[in-house]
Amino acid sequence: MSWKPGDRRERRDAMIRVDQAGEFGAIRIYAGQLAIMGQRSPMARKISAMALQEEKHRAFFDRMIVERGVRPTLFQPFWDVAGFALGAVTAAIGPEAAMACTAAVETEIDKHYQQQIDDLGSSEPELSAAILEFQAEELEHRDHALANGAENAVAYPVLSGLIRLGCKVAIAAAKRI
Ligand SMILES: [Fe+2]
Ligand SMILES: [Fe+2]
Repeated sequence: MSWKPGDRRERRDAMIRVDQAGEFGAIRIYAGQLAIMGQRSPMARKISAMALQEEKHRAFFDRMIVERGVRPTLFQPFWDVAGFALGAVTAAIGPEAAMACTAAVETEIDKHYQQQIDDLGSSEPELSAAILEFQAEELEHRDHALANGAENAVAYPVLSGLIRLGCKVAIAAAKRI
């Protein structure tokens, strides 16, 4: 498929928009989980460490939004509440459900970032390098979640399937809106 000259910029802007929204959503998920778990359990310490990496990811896309004049998502208030709620609800079900949430989200984010890396090719070295780095960290988050009982969560296949579906819908929406 070939793209018209304006398309490349539009597609790149959409990438930055959806990534910034997603990293913001990730921060809110972890904030919701920590609000329920409290800060002192060993699991909470690990979640805080992952949240710190999400802050770094978000800061990069915040900078891209400004530098490249990309319109940020109009859904920010929604991601704020929806992310926090997803984190809080899964943590309230239990630590394994919280980990199942992370495993599901990061599985989708890994695929999403891989698509972007393929799509960008060599056209945007700075963006590609950042996405590659973040993708590796998202995979660490997923592996940590799987190593900490994600798959033992109640109704894991259903929970995981629902959250992954939610991620796909959110990604599709945040590209445009
Ligand atoms: Fe991230
Ligand atoms: Fe992550």
